[in-house]
Amino acid sequence: MKKRETHSKRTLLRGDVRLVSTTSRVSFKVADSLTQSVSDPAHADDPSRRDFIHIAATAAMAGGVVSVAWPLIDQMNPAADTLALATLEYDIGKIALGQEVTISWRKQPVFVRHRTPVEIAAARADDNGSLKDPETDAARVKAGKEQWLIVLASCTHLGCVPTFGGGDYKGWLCPCHGSVYDTSGRIRKGPAPKNLAVPDYKFLSDTKIKIG
Ligand code: FES
Repeated sequence: MKKRETHSKRTLLRGDVRLVSTTSRVSFKVADSLTQSVSDPAHADDPSRRDFIHIAATAAMAGGVVSVAWPLIDQMNPAADTLALATLEYDIGKIALGQEVTISWRKQPVFVRHRTPVEIAAARADDNGSLKDPETDAARVKAGKEQWLIVLASCTHLGCVPTFGGGDYKGWLCPCHGSVYDTSGRIRKGPAPKNLAVPDYKFLSDTKIKIG
């Protein structure tokens, strides 16, 4: 009988160390139960009591793990300034017809081009032409806003910045290795394999876009 009491005390000691570290309210209940268990030898071997202690101790430990882990998980959420960098609102109202601006979004250049009716017609006339990366012009712009073409200013060959107005298709010409894009930003000649990428964006109003 003495041996059993000694064993119970050791168990309590180990349990206390763990439970105190969880700082959970459950830990007090578990400690109470353990105290009862020790002070009441008649129930020391009661299986249902042992089960309860085991479940309560596990719950207390789980609570402790969550309370310790939560600050670590929470700090992985992007900070507000990071989120602000992820999206970009831009006023396109000042870009004249036939002009484009290059803006920076997520540290990469983006062309915002105000296309003329001639540029749009040329792009649409080639929808069924010989395209390396087939895509209609309509799929690359927003319906009703086809005068606005917004694409990443990064050649899909090795990432140089193409310039507008060169090449056989009157779109962009990449000076690095001669890739030629049309007025929809689709690759037509040269080593680049893909069209200029269209980023995720939407119109907030007739004159304001939000990229990202
Ligand atoms: S990077 Fe543009 S053609 Fe090579």
